Amino acid sequence: CGIIGIVGKAPVSDRLIESLKRLEYRGYDSAGVAVQRGGRVERRRALGKIRALEAVLAEQPLTAEIGIGHTRWATHGAPSERNAHPHTAGRVTLVHNGIIENFAELKAELQAEGRVFESETDTEVVAHLIDHYLAAGAAPLAAFKSALDRLTGAYALAVLIEGRDNFIMGARRGSPLVVGTGAGEMFLGSDALAVGPFTNKVTYLEEGDYVAIDHDRAEIFDETGTPVERPMKIVSASAALVEKGNYRHFMEKEIHDQPEGCQHTIAAYIDPIAGRARMAGDVDFAALDRIQIVACGTSYIAGLVGKYLIEKLADLPVDIEIASEFRYREPALRPGALAIAMSQSGETADTLAALRLCQAKGLKTAAVVNAQESTMAREVDVVWPIHCGPEIGVASTKAFTAQVSVLTALAVAAARARGRIDAAEEQRLVRILLEAPRLIAESIGLEDAVKAVAVDIAKARDVLYLGRGPMSALALEGALKLKEISYIHAEGYAAGELKHGPIALVDEHTPIIVLAPYDSYYEKSASNMSEVMARGGQVVFITDPEGAKHAPAGAKVVMTAPASDPLISPLVMSAPIQLLAYHVAVLKGADVDQPRNLAKSVTVE
Ligand code: G6P
Repeated sequence: CGIIGIVGKAPVSDRLIESLKRLEYRGYDSAGVAVQRGGRVERRRALGKIRALEAVLAEQPLTAEIGIGHTRWATHGAPSERNAHPHTAGRVTLVHNGIIENFAELKAELQAEGRVFESETDTEVVAHLIDHYLAAGAAPLAAFKSALDRLTGAYALAVLIEGRDNFIMGARRGSPLVVGTGAGEMFLGSDALAVGPFTNKVTYLEEGDYVAIDHDRAEIFDETGTPVERPMKIVSASAALVEKGNYRHFMEKEIHDQPEGCQHTIAAYIDPIAGRARMAGDVDFAALDRIQIVACGTSYIAGLVGKYLIEKLADLPVDIEIASEFRYREPALRPGALAIAMSQSGETADTLAALRLCQAKGLKTAAVVNAQESTMAREVDVVWPIHCGPEIGVASTKAFTAQVSVLTALAVAAARARGRIDAAEEQRLVRILLEAPRLIAESIGLEDAVKAVAVDIAKARDVLYLGRGPMSALALEGALKLKEISYIHAEGYAAGELKHGPIALVDEHTPIIVLAPYDSYYEKSASNMSEVMARGGQVVFITDPEGAKHAPAGAKVVMTAPASDPLISPLVMSAPIQLLAYHVAVLKGADVDQPRNLAKSVTVE
């Protein structure tokens, strides 16, 4: 989950370790380095902490001026030395962050040509694939590009080629990668922190870019293979644990962090090889009568999305309530229920009180939190961390998609435990969940279209968000985001409720954002859309390719997010509404990261 690469003029082993230590905060379960000297590549890996890797290096030192390093957070394959990066195949040694979705197909193909794999990882497949093209006679960059063109998924890579002592290749798609420029030395890193000990000159690669560095320059190419220039930035020396990178605001960065964050989250809750969802802790989903979710704000809305998924897949009743209401009424609770507190901070006073109330009534309790040291995490029976890294923007974005990711995995795990799906269906759903990071990255690609729409929305006094099913929850989230940071009045409604009130607001001055992928709700949402358009409403339609094809005539703007299974469409459809709120707020000159009157963590009731 952390990457460093150095083409140096002084020994790199200690520096690789120093950088990996900076990346420890991201969480990892194994670490490794590889260096190249005199055309030979050697690697050292260890399970557990970087200390363990240091001990290996003390016994078997590596001396070289070029090397790569990695901290791994297991996705495909259990944490072990064998599965730790770097992975080697033939002349190729590489490290990887992300998920290669089509690794099983590629692996079968490579095995058929006689290649032997030594790990269970998706990463090793990439090493073999590049080596396959090298063996066919391609030059390193051409081989790399051919391999990249075959990969589906999200990744950042750093690659050594045996025999090239002054050369590292890197690529970014859905997982960030930066280039650091030093004095006669060049670096690759998974973020500016990775290269922070060595340089403050940082170039952020863009989606689809790949790069080759030697000791004094970086050649960057875009996804079509065209050489491109990307601006170099000076990162402040105090680039602390969290930095904004190329972004103007933390919120913008956090929106863009979501493919990686989601990958990190699902890695903790699914086993892609077995094709199983796994919820740590001692919860017997088969024996549960119901789930009671308590939460506030965006966390509440994440819980609402969860309700749709859990009830549909697992046939397990889910009650969800805003914590400040729940705690002061006298809810009828029974011990057969599991109480789940959803909270980014793990400290929200109302949610904590609601949780304690459930505990007092004898319910088993769980917390879906980001802050693992928080009060809620300490007080519950089971902690399900969302693993998306610190969230700084007051308006929650990446914590939301991480929370939804956890509940999606929970829905699958509960469905299996309750006998609602068989192993094959569970595997299918797990594979769909693994597509989420890539598809979120694609839907972030709508940003330019969103920016154009934002110009009109910024002039509005009221905005209406509509959707059905899980999209009705996203409609609430879209409206909440817009209110929070742009101070425009917005309402989110279940589209079917339109005619019972909000339709009275509709006139030509009220933009209406309709969220409707082409799913079982689509036809109904489309007729609601026609109803508002018939009354002069200006519709911004956020859908998917099939939905766009069937769009009712008259939608002012159609934004086409990638097609996705309904299991993950809440994750995929989140980015456009977050980006819309963000760009409207920027246009209005609002203080995006610190909106007026709001706090990140509300510890008063
Ligand atoms: C505050 C924040 C919201 C957040 C809510 C719940 O109001 O501004 O963004 O959704 O608290 O916070 P929690 O930490 O419990 O998720």
